[in-house]
Amino acid sequence: MSVPGTVAVVGGGTMGAGIVHVFLAAGSSVVLAEADAERAALGVSNVEASLKKAEERGKLDGTAAELLTRLSTVEDLAALPTDTALVVEAVPERLDLKRAVFATAARRCPDAVLASNTSSLSITELAEGLPGERLIGMHFFNPVPVQALVELVVHPGLAASTAATARGWAEALGKTVIEVRDSPGFATSRLGIAVGMEAIRMVEEGVASAEDIDTGMRLGYAWPMGPLRLTDLVGLDVRLSIAEHLARELGPRFEPPQLLRDKVARGELGRKTGQGFFSW
Ligand SMILES: NC(=O)c1ccc[n+]([C@@H]2O[C@H](COP(=O)([O-])OP(=O)(O)OC[C@H]3O[C@@H](n4cnc5c(N)ncnc54)[C@H](O)[C@@H]3O)[C@@H](O)[C@H]2O)c1
Repeated sequence: MSVPGTVAVVGGGTMGAGIVHVFLAAGSSVVLAEADAERAALGVSNVEASLKKAEERGKLDGTAAELLTRLSTVEDLAALPTDTALVVEAVPERLDLKRAVFATAARRCPDAVLASNTSSLSITELAEGLPGERLIGMHFFNPVPVQALVELVVHPGLAASTAATARGWAEALGKTVIEVRDSPGFATSRLGIAVGMEAIRMVEEGVASAEDIDTGMRLGYAWPMGPLRLTDLVGLDVRLSIAEHLARELGPRFEPPQLLRDKVARGELGRKTGQGFFSW
């Protein structure tokens, strides 16, 4: 299967810009939808920066400038091309916002697959009252052009043909697909948080230093990076809020350790503030 002819990406931030990049690179025409003209221009410059970086590294077929000729923008979803085959939303993590995006996009693009890049919201809830048969979770990873995984999230109302189409497109992007039943944290966040929280509890209990726990996982289990360094990169506040969400949904085994709460309260959020489990 090849990538769709026309793709709409809603939201041109960290994830949206990366998703635009990979579809342009694979040959699609892409319409980037942002809330206003200023943010649309910012989204385009995010895409441009990402493509230029790939071009400099010799990772692009063609030049960034050539690929950008297939990118356009809209500030109103009611102006999307009606023959759009795929609408991917990458707007902030709010159920009401994502539902509103899909409601308009579904009306405007009657044949489009509707894909959400949410990392934690329930796809089943997202699809309520919308054409659920064509709405699927398509979870990309950051940075999108580099990370090889797409986690497809399926729910009871989904048509098998939608799942097959979304899988084919993700594979045409060169990604490897895993399929996960809609459940809190899907597969990747759930397992990533479980290991991350346990690593923090081990620091709290004085089992080993952060450095040694990470080295243990890198050299003993061939992880590219240890769970505590990863927590610093993602942000301690971000991981805390995911753990709280999973504790509410799945029970006390996901309860965040006090050490994590204390560090977040002190503003030690990881790389972005210069201090987390490590100094940056
Ligand atoms: N950042 C990550 O590492 C990561 C990884 C996987 C999934 N996600 C998920 O991807 C989604 C987006 O995350 P992000 O980090 O790219 O966020 P971001 O804040 O960088 O980007 C969000 C973009 O959406 C735009 N936006 C807001 N309201 C809009 C509207 N009504 N219409 C069109 N555009 C609108 C904003 O202007 C912004 O450019 C979230 O659901 C997040 O959970 C993030």
